[in-house]
Amino acid sequence: MSSRQFAHDLVDLLFDHVEQIESRPSVEWRPFAELRELVRIDGTLSDPLELSRMVARYANQLHHPMYMGHQVCPPFMDAAAADFLISVMNQSTAVWEMSPIGTVIEKEVVRWLADRAGYPESAEGTAVSGGSAANLTGLLAARARFDSNVVITSADAHYSIARAAAIMGVRDVRKVPTDAQHRMDVGALEEMLASLDTPPLAIVATCGSTATGAFDDLEAIASLRDRYNTWLHVDAAHGASVLLSDSLAHLARGLDRADSLSWDPHKMLFLPLSLGTILVRDGIWLRRAFQADAPYLFNSAGASENIGEMTIQCSKRADAIKLWLLLKSRGTAPFVEAIERVTRLTRYLYERLNDSDDFEPLHEPQLNILCFRRIGLDNDATADLRERLVRSGRAWITTTILRDERVLRVTMMNPRTTESDVDGLLDALRDV
Ligand SMILES: Cc1ncc(COP(=O)(O)O)c(C=O)c1O
Repeated sequence: MSSRQFAHDLVDLLFDHVEQIESRPSVEWRPFAELRELVRIDGTLSDPLELSRMVARYANQLHHPMYMGHQVCPPFMDAAAADFLISVMNQSTAVWEMSPIGTVIEKEVVRWLADRAGYPESAEGTAVSGGSAANLTGLLAARARFDSNVVITSADAHYSIARAAAIMGVRDVRKVPTDAQHRMDVGALEEMLASLDTPPLAIVATCGSTATGAFDDLEAIASLRDRYNTWLHVDAAHGASVLLSDSLAHLARGLDRADSLSWDPHKMLFLPLSLGTILVRDGIWLRRAFQADAPYLFNSAGASENIGEMTIQCSKRADAIKLWLLLKSRGTAPFVEAIERVTRLTRYLYERLNDSDDFEPLHEPQLNILCFRRIGLDNDATADLRERLVRSGRAWITTTILRDERVLRVTMMNPRTTESDVDGLLDALRDV
């Protein structure tokens, strides 16, 4: 089969797959060993279309309305198609001369996001692989400005904060407890700041936490940052996209006061993996963090356009193109519709849980993440229930530990999911 024919057939296969997704289970679950056997590279040559069909068959079906699991979206198909453009042109965007068009598109996307975030002209940023890389980059920018071995974050912060600190050799990561709504307890943060002899390297707040989707009180935290003269990094990997919605933007109030922020279009802007971004309010700190002596790369006219002088990466995929292409061809309406829809669905689930006798929501959802319990189940039974559900192929959800208890957790990432699918989730949890 020619490469062209394969590519054409693959497009048809994938569009058919997505359009007929409801004829499949949410996953055709197989044990590790069985899957491993299926993919063995054993010297026999196979048809690439058949191989693709097999991958699509055993994939977790993120497009399935009953997929309500992790923070990975069923991407817009235009964006997935743009991935092919990005791959074929293979522009590496760290060095201006290696990709003039990729460089200007990334800069345009960064500027557009920075404007949405309310950042001034001094802001700079780059596309990165995702929230973890963005958080590390934000903390590296903080260290270019402040010299300290302490990072303060919330007990519910994503693990990438502690990991970033560890990579940087920052050993003292202090966790502020969360309040009843799972937000960083601002009073406890203030006490922690007051107890330090010198300001911390950074306070890291969260805008859309992983476990519950909670939004920290950024105005209050930014005021403490001002008082204690430190850096405020906001991990808004999940939540920053609310800025596009008039009805939800209030959740991120104060984000414009962050010194740096992480924003993942591959989460709530429904783009295929991967596209994360880091934005730094005063770009000078990002540049200082990544000053490099590389005359073989950073030597041409227009050197300041080299994105590689602001990022960890050298080879760097032109992932910003997929967001740019969607914004330029469709505007913001599809993003806003999708964000608002999944938020409404999560609210609907919350109400159904409240109405039921056998389930209980564990917090009020602010966005599209919700933890709940099946009344009467202990930790092991809850984990077991979720496992049975996933393996049944009827729905795909996750669990987490909340206040020391194993709980059920959904992230509504699929605008195809309907209210009756949400009802179906509770029925499936009762049946399996
Ligand atoms: C709040 C938050 N920050 C950071 C991350 C990490 O992002 P990535 O998986 O893109 O590295 C996640 C991932 O779920 C997250 O929820």
